[in-house]
Amino acid sequence: MFHYQADLLHCENLSVEAVARQVGTPFYCYSAEAIRTRFREYTTVFEPDNALICYAVKANSNPSVLGLLAEMGSGADVVSAGELHSALAAGIPASKIVFSGVGKTVSEMNFALERGIFQFNVESEPELERLNQLALSVGKPARVSIRVNPDIDARTHRKITTGKSENKFGIPASRAIEIYEQARQFKGIETQGISMHIGSQLTRLRPFEQAFNALAALTGQLRAAGHDIRVLDIGGGLGIDYGDGHSPPPLERYARLARQILDPLGCRLIIEPGRSLLGTAGILVTEIQYVKQGQERTFLIVDAGMNHLLRPALYDAWHDILPVRKTQGKTLEYDVVGPICETGDSFATKRRLSPMTQGDLLAVMNTGAYGAVMGSFYNSHPLAPEVLIDQGEFRIVRKRIGLAQMIAMDS
Ligand code: LLP
Repeated sequence: MFHYQADLLHCENLSVEAVARQVGTPFYCYSAEAIRTRFREYTTVFEPDNALICYAVKANSNPSVLGLLAEMGSGADVVSAGELHSALAAGIPASKIVFSGVGKTVSEMNFALERGIFQFNVESEPELERLNQLALSVGKPARVSIRVNPDIDARTHRKITTGKSENKFGIPASRAIEIYEQARQFKGIETQGISMHIGSQLTRLRPFEQAFNALAALTGQLRAAGHDIRVLDIGGGLGIDYGDGHSPPPLERYARLARQILDPLGCRLIIEPGRSLLGTAGILVTEIQYVKQGQERTFLIVDAGMNHLLRPALYDAWHDILPVRKTQGKTLEYDVVGPICETGDSFATKRRLSPMTQGDLLAVMNTGAYGAVMGSFYNSHPLAPEVLIDQGEFRIVRKRIGLAQMIAMDS
């Protein structure tokens, strides 16, 4: 969806440079077609009759993105009242929404109970107790899957590993039977399944295979103890190719593995993809403010910073960087850095690019997921606006917050 026509980077059939001229930089630019294509791939490899794709809203919660996925029949995996509200407002029915997260508050639970969401993924005993009490007072039982922590190493970055015993997520597999027994005593709780999510940006199948096998084994044990397990939520986690030499297996192989292990159990599958739906569908467009010659490095100082895209600073993440207009000449080595007063505010070090000058535009690739949503006002810079390109037209789907608005928030 992002490609060059002549020397100009295009999103679908629109020139990114032309969009930049109208929107100003920095901004996020998403391709609707890329999102639709990826969603269709998911519905092809998983049987829509017994699998529900619940898009992980945390990856990109822009209402237009959610609306587009809602139209395609997506459900949602939400982690806050805000995400639940956005998903519902975008037209995703409550019957397709699961609520994950370790810290659900009373008001968040009440909101979700009132709306009658498909499932709460419960992550601890005290959470189960609280949910039971609230469900009893609302007079509607809460449908629940217990999130189990299988103590499996996802072999991804440690900060996005969630299925190891030292992580805060889920209940140890060894205590699962006990908590399902406890849930059975709670009149406000109706357990319907098990959920698991071992981490994000997984590029190998082996950890998934271990997790799916653990799910299958636990389903057997719970059923033997008389629990009705009808739903298996396998989380998200399939990675994307960031160009860093770690490419994930094709979606088709991931799905085949899941189905081989889990289909025989006859459960409804829930899949919660975030990054693999949105990641490659977006770019961050930024303008070079200065080309600065340092002692050892040449810095391209751009107008986007870690406040707009945190991933490189937080995870040392690699993002390909492309010139929006290709230039002629031998490539040179650059450090691409932002304006924020932190050394960690760097998008790339020693990156080879064709010769760049002040005013040139760069595209930070594969930033459709965990880009805009992790933005902040750090150093009192406004957030980046977001643009969605669909069928030859672009729409600003999040406005630039002006200085006056930013200042008006505080007193
Ligand atoms: N389900 C649960 C319960 C999750 O915690 C997550 C992601 C997902 C699904 C979606 O995972 P995905 O398909 O996107 O891998 N900010 C980090 C990623 C954090 C992921 C958190 N949980 C990053 O920029 O890499």
